This record gives sequence, C-alpha cells and structure tokens, in this order.
Amino acid sequence: MKIAVAGKGGVGKTTIAGTLARLLGRDGLRILAVDADPSYTLWSALGIPADVAYTIVPLTENEKLVEERLQIEGAGSYKQFFKLNPRVDDLAEKFAVEGPDNVSLLVAGTVETGGSGCMCPSATLLKSLMRHLTIGQDEAFVMDMDAGVENLGRGTTTGMDALLVVAEPGRRSLDILGKIRKLAMDIDVGRVFAVGNKVATPDDEEMIRKWVEKEGIPLLGVVPLDETIKQADRKGVAPIDLDSKSTGMLAIQSIKQRLIEEINA
Ligand SMILES: Nc1ncnc2c1ncn2[C@@H]1O[C@H](COP(=O)(O)OP(=O)(O)O)[C@@H](O)[C@H]1O
Ligand SMILES: [Mg+2]
Repeated sequence: MKIAVAGKGGVGKTTIAGTLARLLGRDGLRILAVDADPSYTLWSALGIPADVAYTIVPLTENEKLVEERLQIEGAGSYKQFFKLNPRVDDLAEKFAVEGPDNVSLLVAGTVETGGSGCMCPSATLLKSLMRHLTIGQDEAFVMDMDAGVENLGRGTTTGMDALLVVAEPGRRSLDILGKIRKLAMDIDVGRVFAVGNKVATPDDEEMIRKWVEKEGIPLLGVVPLDETIKQADRKGVAPIDLDSKSTGMLAIQSIKQRLIEEINA
C-alpha cells in the first residue's frame, strides 16, 4: 500500500501522514514514511526525537549521493547529462531512520520548484525512488508532500495507490481539491480521496462535505479540531504519544480503516 498526503500549507498533512504511519505500524505493517516536504517536519508527528531528526540530510540535498547515483557529467552550468535511471533500491535501507511502532523515516527532500519543468538531477533521483521503491505484502509507504501541487505534475506520485488531499473548512484549502483532481488525472495515482481537518462545528463539516461532493472526490472522514494535537505540537511530541485516544486520533484511526477498505475493495 502506497499512500501520498497532499494539501495546502498548514492544513494538517504532516499530522495526518505521521499518525496514519504510526497506526498502520501498530497494525503490524512495516512502514516507510517518506518526507517530501522541504520543511521536513514529519519526524515530529512520528515521534522521532528532535536530536535524531536534526542530523538527517535530505536525500536530494546530499550532493555526493545525487552526483554518484546520477553519474553527472560536465561541470558548473554544464551539469546537464545524467542518468535517468539511477540506482535507488538501497536508499531506504541506507538512509532511513528507525522510529516507534515499526515506522522508519526517509527524508527525501523535495523537487526544486521554479524553472520551466526542468528535470534536475535531484528531481530525477526522487522520482526514481518513488517509482522503483518496491514494497512487500506486509509493508506500507506513506509520503508527506509539500504544499505545492507542482510535485504531482512531475511524477513523484507515480505508482501511488492513494492520494489523500487534506483540507480544512475554508475556500483556500478546499480550492486545492479541484486542482489536484485535475492533475491527478494526468498522472499515475490509483485513487484520490479527501480528508477534512480542523473541523470545529457542524457548519465546518457541512462545508467540507458539500465541496467534496461538488468535486466528486470521496471523503474518507473528518478530523475534529483537537486540543491534543495542538498540545503535542507545543510540547514537541507526536500527538499519538500524548493521547492515542483523543478525538483527533480516533478520527484518524477510522480514516485509516476506511482507506484500507477502499484500497482493498
Ligand atoms: N485536528 C487538529 N486540531 C488542532 N490542531 C491541528 C489539527 N491538525 C493540525 N493541527 C495543527 O496545525 C498546524 C499545522 O499542522 P501540520 O500537520 O504541520 O500541517 P501541514 O503539514 O499541512 O503544514 C500544527 O500546529 C498542528 O499541530
Ligand atoms: Mg507539513
């Protein structure tokens, strides 16, 4: 099972991706959590200590690795000839950091945005990683993506079984649902689902339900505005470690269940 989590900045992608990874790990799956957001905060929602997290160098910022794997020819601005199929099968094993509940974290880094769809070496490495990462029957892969939708168009979600688009009750985050749906049709994602977050009132939930219906995207569930999640961020711990039975955590638990049912259906 390969799951990618996307959405506007601050909607709760990292919180939901990290908690999903931990819950799937508790189900007995071996989880590879991939952080593809340049702000690299997935460690915090996974419960990996900050002092461990701060030593991690994202794959795409590991220049030696990128050069070695892509066998870049030329120098300076002539660094334009490189392998399009770099070796990636050993990257998770070599660079992932172990966390609680059978989850390990690979900080991938992100595809540089800007430029006119240029295929930079680091983007090639990341795309190859996503495409060729094979997972076994008892494994799952959860990717926390950056706020931009650009990455989707560049094939980093190729081969994903599900793309979860997180949105809060507000136009700016819900607008992304339409954009992502259009992009997802051009790329290779199995299915697109919506997840509502930070829902405080019945009106909030109603707004999200109406919007996803209009876009024709199935809603896996909504996560309430949860004091535990806020507190966890203040304390620098994973919400699931602070209170695994909080309203938010229970909602993510049932979203996980729905997701498994939908993917296996
Ligand atoms: N359901 C929720 N209830 C309360 N606070 C939340 C909830 N979901 C996320 N947050 C808070 O919102 C902020 C952004 O969440 P985060 O997961 O980092 O979003 P993103 O990865 O989309 O930028 C964090 O401070 C997080 O603790
Ligand atoms: Mg994030």
